[in-house]
Amino acid sequence: MLLTSLLRALPATLLLFGTNAIPVDDHEKRQSSIDAYIKSQADVSIKGVLANIGADGSKAQGVPAGIVIASPSRSNPDYYYTWTRDAALTYKALVERFISGDTSLRQKLDDYVSAQAYLQGVSNPSGSPDSGGLGEPKFNVDRTAFTGAWGRPQRDGPPLRATALIIYANWLIANGGQTQAANTVWPVIAKDLAYTVRYWNQTGFDLWEEVNGSSFFTLSASHRALVEGAALATKLSKTCDGCAAAAPQVLCFIQSFWTGSYIDSNINVNDGRTGKDVNSIISSIHTFDPAAKCTDATFQPCSSRALSNHKAVTDSFRSVYGINRGIAQGRAVAIGRYSEDVYFNGNPWYLATLAAAEQLYSAAYQWDRQGSIVVDAVSLPFFRDLLPSIATGTYAKGSSIYTSILSSVRTYADGYVAVVQKYTPSNGGLAEQFDKNNGSPLSAVDLTWSYAAFLTAAERRAGVVSPTWGEPSNNVPPTSCSGTPACNARITFNVRASTSFGENVFVVGQLAQLGNWNPTGAKPLSASKYTSSDPLWFAAIDLPASTAFEYKYIRKSSSGQVTWESDPNRRYTSSAGCGSSANVNDTWK
Ligand SMILES: *[C@@H]1O[C@H](CO)[C@@H](O)[C@H](O)[C@H]1NC(C)=O
Ligand SMILES: *[C@@H]1O[C@H](CO)[C@@H](O)[C@H](O)[C@H]1NC(C)=O
Ligand SMILES: *[C@@H]1O[C@H](CO)[C@@H](O)[C@H](O)[C@H]1NC(C)=O
Repeated sequence: MLLTSLLRALPATLLLFGTNAIPVDDHEKRQSSIDAYIKSQADVSIKGVLANIGADGSKAQGVPAGIVIASPSRSNPDYYYTWTRDAALTYKALVERFISGDTSLRQKLDDYVSAQAYLQGVSNPSGSPDSGGLGEPKFNVDRTAFTGAWGRPQRDGPPLRATALIIYANWLIANGGQTQAANTVWPVIAKDLAYTVRYWNQTGFDLWEEVNGSSFFTLSASHRALVEGAALATKLSKTCDGCAAAAPQVLCFIQSFWTGSYIDSNINVNDGRTGKDVNSIISSIHTFDPAAKCTDATFQPCSSRALSNHKAVTDSFRSVYGINRGIAQGRAVAIGRYSEDVYFNGNPWYLATLAAAEQLYSAAYQWDRQGSIVVDAVSLPFFRDLLPSIATGTYAKGSSIYTSILSSVRTYADGYVAVVQKYTPSNGGLAEQFDKNNGSPLSAVDLTWSYAAFLTAAERRAGVVSPTWGEPSNNVPPTSCSGTPACNARITFNVRASTSFGENVFVVGQLAQLGNWNPTGAKPLSASKYTSSDPLWFAAIDLPASTAFEYKYIRKSSSGQVTWESDPNRRYTSSAGCGSSANVNDTWK
């Protein structure tokens, strides 16, 4: 069995070492009440997840099998769609649950595989299936494309989906399902990995669908998927073109999000924010590897960087929410997406508060397995909030300081779950947000991702973890980073245009390489083959491959006067394949 369980019984007397130390009786009372809460809320949560999945979910009636609705809410806000990200994170939790023994989920997993294979084939505003369409963030629940305006593309969907399916494929291989893994699951994974290899080095929208830049979450998810995807390909005797080569480059790039004390969640964009965003905490729990040490380079939950970041991000919410007022440093508070958030006036989210707990439970798992806790200059401020007199050093398992650190961290983590408990209605329904001033549920009801976040936090608390994704042998970034080389096609524009002496012909259009419609940036054509019987102007220009664009020819007189061709604009799609070439033959109009 791949899953392990962490024994975590601590002698009650040792709890007195922390500043969070509370009388043992109260501690036990609180412990048993949080244990009971987690048990009942986990039950509501798995039911809440399954209710939102077609075809038989009670809140997803009529929705095709394996399609996850984000929420049954159809107005203010309308979340009755299926998001690739939300569905993948939800299914990652379901696959983990299946592997840990809930065999009733088998059909649901197979439904997901078929539903995603179908969606990968749907052309949409982000592109066709092999030219960027996999980056489309959401679809209508009937599996047709959503064509309204949206923050697209979002490049986290494909690697997240790949990860959920890779965990399942590895289970199949180990349990007699090699053929299903190779013939049914791998083809879906392979497309997502090909997308990730091709686009990881391009900007896109973040997980909150607002910022168009490079998102730490997207890149962290990409690194994980490429590493485990390359390994799965080898296991199945398949190829994963570029996966093994891209993975270290992605790891190299994600180092640049580290500011020295926290992770700046969005770079390559001027978003006017600090960058302290629960994006980074969700990244750390997504890339948690139970076999990993506290590696800084992969921002493992117990790494000094991730702990310092946990403090920076959680502290950023202490002063912005009324319900957090008066709560002392080192005690759990309600957590939102980022402190500058204005969506629904900016409130705490259940899944964000649960992520803050999950990182700490995962860290506790890693310390226990590693047998020691390192406190260094980077993580010291995090630990000082819990144990004010702690000093830097390495504390071995079995020592009283190790025991009191572990106990304070787990108590601190339970505090985040207790915040969720406090602001959850008695039926256990988890919406998206809760009001920053009075704690009442807000925005979409029964958010699938909120329920999934509860399930994974509860699992980590109980020491139930996913199999390793290979972090231990893929955690050293190369010393210098490189991005992906541009994938260009060489297009030769040929236009027959009779010109008078002193006139020159140019091509101008929608792409940066064609001047973005600005005549001053238009590309000149050559008249070297021009004759009166064949008035040919031509130029070979490198353009991004497989890209649809509009263009026109213009002529400029010797005095610089510009004459445009008549409407409509010409349209063309550059050829597919890096280094390919093609000709366009036009006649001036
Ligand atoms: C592409 O990768 C390079 C090298 O890591 C990095 O400097 C650059 O910011 C990346 N750009 C995007 C958009 O990912
Ligand atoms: C996102 O930003 C890139 C530049 O980083 C830009 O080329 C692209 O057009 C932007 N996309 C949208 C939809 O604004
Ligand atoms: C386009 O024009 C070029 C240059 O005259 C010629 O070599 C090529 O065969 C033409 N192609 C087509 C499809 O007409």
